[in-house]
Amino acid sequence: MQIGIVGAGMVGSAAGYAIALKGTASKITFVDYNADLARAQAEDIAHAVPFASSTVVTAGDYKDLKGAGVVILAAGVGQKPGESRLELLARNAEVFRQIIDKVLDAAPDAILLVATNPVDIMTQIATRLSGLPPQRVIGSGTILDTARFRHLIGEHLGVSARSIHAYVLGEHGDSEVLGWSSARAGTLSIKEFGAQMRVPLTAGVKARIDDGVRNAAYTIINGKGATWYGIGAGLERLLRAITRDEQTVLSVSIVTPKVEGVNDVALSIPRIVGAQGVVADLFPELDDGEHEALGASARLLKQTLDALDY
Ligand code: 2OP
Repeated sequence: MQIGIVGAGMVGSAAGYAIALKGTASKITFVDYNADLARAQAEDIAHAVPFASSTVVTAGDYKDLKGAGVVILAAGVGQKPGESRLELLARNAEVFRQIIDKVLDAAPDAILLVATNPVDIMTQIATRLSGLPPQRVIGSGTILDTARFRHLIGEHLGVSARSIHAYVLGEHGDSEVLGWSSARAGTLSIKEFGAQMRVPLTAGVKARIDDGVRNAAYTIINGKGATWYGIGAGLERLLRAITRDEQTVLSVSIVTPKVEGVNDVALSIPRIVGAQGVVADLFPELDDGEHEALGASARLLKQTLDALDY
């Protein structure tokens, strides 16, 4: 499958690099308002391809997205140190107003993967601007937070993160909800797993993991200015679920008719992803505190969206 990546900054290029290394797409076309940057990223990544795959990596204009089955939207500005994802909203909403029509003129049948922050609201804006069905406008949502959650639980339990089944729900941002009550390691609850392995999941351990997941981006941004490898790999994973029609469960963000009493809000819950985009929503089993926190996250996103005139 040919794909496009609009926005050749750190996130777009990291996604392109991960996709090229894995050979997830037959061709990647980078588009950026800074055409020199798009060309340079494409050339640099193309030089990695002979070591790994046969993906063609190129740069071009919007019209060169013709034939793309998926377009990753990574255009926009990132957070400055100390800035929240929601504070980026007005600036990045304007960027989407300028690009969505051009993308769809060239690639009307593409599935859109939204990576620009604040990703849930940008997904909602992209859905509205594009007129596409919500199942085909997919935000990376909490795919990365879920990876961070699994990494930290796995590290504590001394087991591969790939044996952890746990999801972060709601906003990709400060109000996100860690799904502790349904988290499992192999076939066991993580509490039972911790007990059997003699590494109990105490309240202190859980608080440390919560902080590590919720504040990962702030810590990394303080250290290196932005985050890109984690989300780049997450976007590759999401693309692979589509190109291979995997029907795999991923925590991604799409406009959802009703979440905890809030109508038409984009946020993450586990969903089944395949060639048509999101094919089913899986409402997780939650305890009372998680229900309440997911409702608060949904309300926050809805209020932020409603305050924005777009
Ligand atoms: C992240 O969580 C900043 O949203 C970006 O890494």
